[in-house]
Amino acid sequence: MSDEKKVSNAEASEFFYPSDEIVSNAHIKDYDSVYKRSIEDPEGFWAEEAEKLEWFRKWDKVFDDSNAPFYKWFVGGKINIVHNAVDRHLKTWRRNKIAMIWEGEPGDVKVMSYHALNREICKTANVLKSMGVNKGDIVTIYMPQIPELAITMLACVKIGAAHSVVYGGFSVEALADRIASANSRVLVTADGGWRRGKVTDLKSIANEAMDRSPTIEVCITVKRTGHDVHMENDRDFWYHDLMALPIASPRCATEVMDAEDMLFILFTSGTTGKPKGLVHTHGGYQVFTATSHKYVFDIKDEDRWWCAADPGWITGHSYLVYSPLVNGSTIMMYEGAPNHPYPNRWWNMVEKYGITILYTSPTAIRGLMRFGDQWPRRHDLSSLRLLGSVGEPINPEAWRWYHKNIGADKCPIMDTWWQTETGGFMICPLPVTPLKPGSATKPFFGVQVGVIDEDGNEVAAGEEGKLVIKRPTPGMARTILGDPERYEDTYWKEYAEQGWYKAGDSARIDEDGYIWVIGRIDDVIKVSGYRLGTAEVESALVSYPDVSEAAAIALPHELKGNAIHVYCILKAGVKGDQKMANDIKKHVSSEIGPIAKPEEVHFLESLPKTRSGKIMRRVLKARALGIDEGDLSTLEE
Ligand code: WT7
Repeated sequence: MSDEKKVSNAEASEFFYPSDEIVSNAHIKDYDSVYKRSIEDPEGFWAEEAEKLEWFRKWDKVFDDSNAPFYKWFVGGKINIVHNAVDRHLKTWRRNKIAMIWEGEPGDVKVMSYHALNREICKTANVLKSMGVNKGDIVTIYMPQIPELAITMLACVKIGAAHSVVYGGFSVEALADRIASANSRVLVTADGGWRRGKVTDLKSIANEAMDRSPTIEVCITVKRTGHDVHMENDRDFWYHDLMALPIASPRCATEVMDAEDMLFILFTSGTTGKPKGLVHTHGGYQVFTATSHKYVFDIKDEDRWWCAADPGWITGHSYLVYSPLVNGSTIMMYEGAPNHPYPNRWWNMVEKYGITILYTSPTAIRGLMRFGDQWPRRHDLSSLRLLGSVGEPINPEAWRWYHKNIGADKCPIMDTWWQTETGGFMICPLPVTPLKPGSATKPFFGVQVGVIDEDGNEVAAGEEGKLVIKRPTPGMARTILGDPERYEDTYWKEYAEQGWYKAGDSARIDEDGYIWVIGRIDDVIKVSGYRLGTAEVESALVSYPDVSEAAAIALPHELKGNAIHVYCILKAGVKGDQKMANDIKKHVSSEIGPIAKPEEVHFLESLPKTRSGKIMRRVLKARALGIDEGDLSTLEE
């Protein structure tokens, strides 16, 4: 099923236990009993957690499965996530608590209290209103990691609009596609951002994307870098100009939303076709993300929480912006590269701001690990209490380095398995859980998982199978924007009878009940933790003039986890050479974004296909790895 390295039994039986201090301070001291309750009475469990938030009107029904798989939660409830993330804190001492500490790559710093954050959100919300943004609209946001990104997200939501954040690392084609799918009238962007001492020219990319996007009428641009950019008359406005107008009043009412109203859409890559816009909603999403954030990272008021993910991905939505603010935390946000100007940049910030919890990805850890322990050793990291990991399986070597050098052998690592679709953590430890490096451990409260074989039967302990989620949870995406059928087909159809959700990953469960997620089994590639579809890469490849057919696969890579390798068939009479290979790499990178840049380009005469014409990527992969090609009975050659 997968060719990832198997973890030996010796590794699988090694436990790391939390200290007494961690256990005695934890919100949840006994996982088993709370888990049992959450499974026996999920509606009661979630209702109890939902009670901890403020509702404009309480729900009539916790869970509604009358139109499966289009499940609903907290039906009839009225709420707005901004009310819980910001407004309600203003009534308490938290008004003057620091909501956000932000550091730009050049070293500039902004610190904002909840009071100040609220003013910025209100002003921006009024600006958006004056630009004709209405309840139900989808505003596309394309920005670097600057405070205005979070502020714009919250401002949209405050007035009942939804946002679609497009990761600032994406390029023209990816942005234009997403604007079109969301039907956005308004785009909020920035002139650029700082990355490794250089300016990323977001506005030029946005301008090019807007040339392909007839729906856009208004573009608001935040001035971040100050470099020269082209502004189009009647379409383009500077954010700071609008924020200086009387219309940008610091007072704005928070719209009352239905629990099931759309909060945001976020595009993610699938097996086939264009990326799909997953729809998340106000009610269940905030209950689920706030609960999981609080219990898994044991959030206390004195914490300084740093989720080092980009807000352009689900991790940034759920655990950088929304749930930490709902929990009244102080959040840290950093604009730039982890190793700029030196590989101690992150450790310097942990020390400087007294960060207590750091949540990042295996790829970032591996990237910093390669510079050696002398960089973290220069800093006092003793403020750290807990660490986290997300995005792909963490290899035990990186786990140990992170645990020892960053966590001083005392900070437990919360390895959280989840997906854009699930909204929040599905499989993860609590601080009190004994850990095994490389295992995301146990299901979170209310989550039931299974690992099954081809016939849908549970596999034996230690055996690999397909990961399924056996019941819906409140934070799951409700549908795919404009394509409910695809939502049903992709996730729920295969196990419709049992009502299970297909995760698309393979996994195994060991004798101790610990879950080991192995990786994707579909045509989704995880590069540096980022998710890309082979279909997207292939579509970019065939848009290169000389390429007539192409296939993309993932091969293991020391830093990135996986790297993209592509195979191209060229048009008749054309010969491929190194120059063309480099050109093709550049082309893919400018169409989708640098993360999609192929590691290697190979030229072939033909691709292995099934008789029905489907490319057999697993055969290409087996050949590249020099391993058994498996069952070739459907191969056409
Ligand atoms: C896929 C989902 C969840 C936020 C970031 C990724 C892989 C994610 C882990 C983990 C092993 C993991 C899976 C999953 N994945 N976290 N802790 N251990 N694999 O969200 O981009 O929607 O990707 O990421 O393959 O299916 P995403």
